[in-house]
Amino acid sequence: DDLQISRGETIEDTARIMGRFLHGLVIRTFGQDIVEKFAKYSGIPVVNALTDLLHPCQSYTDMFTMTEVFSQGKPTPESIKGKKFVFFGDTACNMAYSLALAGAMFGVEVVLCGPDEFKPAPVLDTLFKEANLAPTWSFTSDPVAASRNANVLYTDVWVSMGKEDEKAERIKTMSPYQVNSELFKVADKNAIFMHCLPAHAGEEVSKEILESPRCIVFDQAENRLHVQKAIVSYLVDKNRKLAK
Ligand code: NVA
Repeated sequence: DDLQISRGETIEDTARIMGRFLHGLVIRTFGQDIVEKFAKYSGIPVVNALTDLLHPCQSYTDMFTMTEVFSQGKPTPESIKGKKFVFFGDTACNMAYSLALAGAMFGVEVVLCGPDEFKPAPVLDTLFKEANLAPTWSFTSDPVAASRNANVLYTDVWVSMGKEDEKAERIKTMSPYQVNSELFKVADKNAIFMHCLPAHAGEEVSKEILESPRCIVFDQAENRLHVQKAIVSYLVDKNRKLAK
């Protein structure tokens, strides 16, 4: 509402102006195309802080938080290589896609598990191609098989941004995919629970698991701050070097 975009200025022009004012831009919006246009026309680093397609700051944070749990001593990326990571629920959402990509980058075995109706769409293959990554994720609709020997059980809200009209149908279809103590029985004995928040206890996760010592959701929430500071610092620094 505060930008000239609301008065009909094109995103391309607003992006070019922002590029003259700023050293970087963090955008949290709906459409991925908006972030990509800003990146194309502003000439400055643009960070996706959430779109309906991707949530990369969260998935980087999640990989980092896992290194804190699985490393002996100082956190290292090697400590999460080969870990089995299962994402439950709507596997065609921004978090599922970003975690599949981050898993491939860090050597984590990502299993996407949910109803067939909410399987990953072909756009996930396109995202892997664009990122020049081999698609290492798999999909199953069997939550018990997915959880077997898993190191991380992860879920997200069943009603993602833009899907509010489908709420009742989604809750009904996804209820067999609630993360609860039954799934932890077959997982690795030290398995942890993760969620990008906000959580809905009794829907995608049981209250018992959310309140248990396995749950590291507030470490994830805190780490978003630290990882996002690192992302901004890295990009601004890189841009400054390029400008020299
Ligand atoms: N999938 C969720 C992520 C929230 C951080 C949503 O789009 O609402």
